[in-house]
Amino acid sequence: MRKIAVLTGGGDCPGLNAVIRAVAKSAHQYGLEVLGIRDGFRGAVEGDFMPLTLKEVSGILPRGGTILGTTNRDNPFAYETIVNGTAQILDRSGDVIRNLKDHDVDALLVIGGDGSLNIALKFANLGLNVIGIPKTIDNDLMATDQTFGFQTAVDTATEALDRLHTTAESHHRVMVLEVMGRYAGWIALYAGVAGGADVILIPEIPYTLNRVAQAIQKRAKQGKKFSIIVVAEGAKPRGGEIVVERLVSGRFDPIKLGGIGAKIGNDLEEQYGLETRVTVLGHLQRGGSPNSYDRVLSSRYGVAAVDAALEEEFGIMVALRGRDIVRVPLNKAVDKLKQVLLIDPLLIAARNLGLEMGD
Ligand code: F6P
Repeated sequence: MRKIAVLTGGGDCPGLNAVIRAVAKSAHQYGLEVLGIRDGFRGAVEGDFMPLTLKEVSGILPRGGTILGTTNRDNPFAYETIVNGTAQILDRSGDVIRNLKDHDVDALLVIGGDGSLNIALKFANLGLNVIGIPKTIDNDLMATDQTFGFQTAVDTATEALDRLHTTAESHHRVMVLEVMGRYAGWIALYAGVAGGADVILIPEIPYTLNRVAQAIQKRAKQGKKFSIIVVAEGAKPRGGEIVVERLVSGRFDPIKLGGIGAKIGNDLEEQYGLETRVTVLGHLQRGGSPNSYDRVLSSRYGVAAVDAALEEEFGIMVALRGRDIVRVPLNKAVDKLKQVLLIDPLLIAARNLGLEMGD
């Protein structure tokens, strides 16, 4: 093992730079050379590589984003390529393998969520030495207790809830905060509990508007003239359509999520006469500096991935189990999305706190 390459795939996430730094620093300890691949799998197809020495990673630990760049939709197995002036979808996985070979790369570290790790698995199945590192604010990856970036997103959403509380209380309003999370309710659940929300709506529990309105009206009877609702972008009313879009025709379709906060706000005003305001937190949850928890977790993931490379254990993802970082087969990581179970201890605690879940 002499040279490793690293790329950041999919949406950005607080802690990406902390992982990149940990990989470079740890590899340096062992005398390994590290290459960064720019813009995720696009750079792997196009051969856009850069050296990652201690100089490049100096000072990046607290920085949001990724110094390597990333793209959401580039899949080497179904890659949009312009041929004679027209766009075609081609399998360019061979270019990735050739580029890595040309740069004498012995192992590829893929820092990514569900989409990028699915691609990593395909390369592992083709015999490439691949190691995955679990990234996503959504925390929806199986086989790890936590992805890095999640806790920072929860902090951001919690701060937003704290701020919404004071204005909601002053104006006697209902405030709806729509948070990210794709088809999982982790951010909504954790931030809802941490931020003292009154109602939490998540994709795993289709909601009934009447239940939400009743909870608000009950509070009003108790003299509480404001209420806070946190809703995950993937939440749906009972009877509404629930679609999980993952790989569609080999390419990632844009995720059609969001707008549920606005719908709930409108419905509460129109059907129940409750004065409601809606905030969509959006990409604020992805940007900015990772919190201390995510800096530590990211650093540990980076170090553990280099360890796995040195021990030549490939086709795995580094994962958190309790306090330990372990190695799990990549296929277990991307088997299915990790959603909130009805028996999740925090969900049960939320109910015991009297929080309305809309069911
Ligand atoms: O997976 C991370 C995430 O931020 C989701 O929570 C959200 O649905 C999606 O990415 C947004 O993607 P984009 O950056 O393409 O708008």
